[in-house]
Amino acid sequence: MIELFNIQKTYRLNGAPVEALRGVSLSIASGEYRALMGKSGSGKTTLMNIIGLLDTPTGGEYKIDGRPTAGLSENELADLRNRRIGFVFQSFNLLARYSALENVCMPLYYRRERYPQKKAARALERVELGHRMGHFPNQLSGGESQRVAIARAMVTEPTIILADEPTGNLDSVTGGQIMDLFQDLNKGGTTILLVTHEVEIAQKAYNIIRIRDGLLEE
Ligand SMILES: Nc1ncnc2c1ncn2[C@@H]1O[C@H](COP(=O)(O)OP(=O)(O)OP(=O)(O)O)[C@@H](O)[C@H]1O
Ligand SMILES: [Mg+2]
Repeated sequence: MIELFNIQKTYRLNGAPVEALRGVSLSIASGEYRALMGKSGSGKTTLMNIIGLLDTPTGGEYKIDGRPTAGLSENELADLRNRRIGFVFQSFNLLARYSALENVCMPLYYRRERYPQKKAARALERVELGHRMGHFPNQLSGGESQRVAIARAMVTEPTIILADEPTGNLDSVTGGQIMDLFQDLNKGGTTILLVTHEVEIAQKAYNIIRIRDGLLEE
């Protein structure tokens, strides 16, 4: 489903190259739950951004369902992202001026869904936030905010959810609840790739991928 062949990413900083990814090959099949681990600066976020179509590689090939993503226009990438990818970030990335319900509606507005609020409400109920739909981000706890973000990621029924240190800003109990939610989603068939620094968290996944200096380790 997700196939990366020899993916490279070289940033340019004042003319000097920074090799963040140096040839990453990886495939992720439907229904898998994998954790990505590696030291700070090893290229985890860079890799997630490429898989999530937020950034493009400087070398190599990335295919989704056998189709190359290279050469797609900004609009085509945005559509593909909206249809296939759900993101969960360490810092939640909710829109401050919108309620929990409206935040979850956003990806549905983009695709002009007919009953966005109904679907968004169902997603919020699924993460046990039915009683917080009208709350704004600054009225939610950290764990609640992350659950809103997960509802927003899953409301479109994405092919894969990419989570970049989703428990990084949460205490361990709240982080554990978030991890339970990912496990439930995966049991329901959602493919998940999750970045974490913590071994206990990574062990919830079926398989751990390790990255070091822009290369995957065996
Ligand atoms: N826009 C950029 N321009 C230049 N260098 C960058 C840029 N983004 C990332 N880098 C460099 O690429 C490398 C990989 O960065 P990346 O953010 O992927 O690391 P990471 O594994 O996610 O680290 P962390 O665990 O701290 O989040 C780092 O050395 C970083 O300094
Ligand atoms: Mg990172």
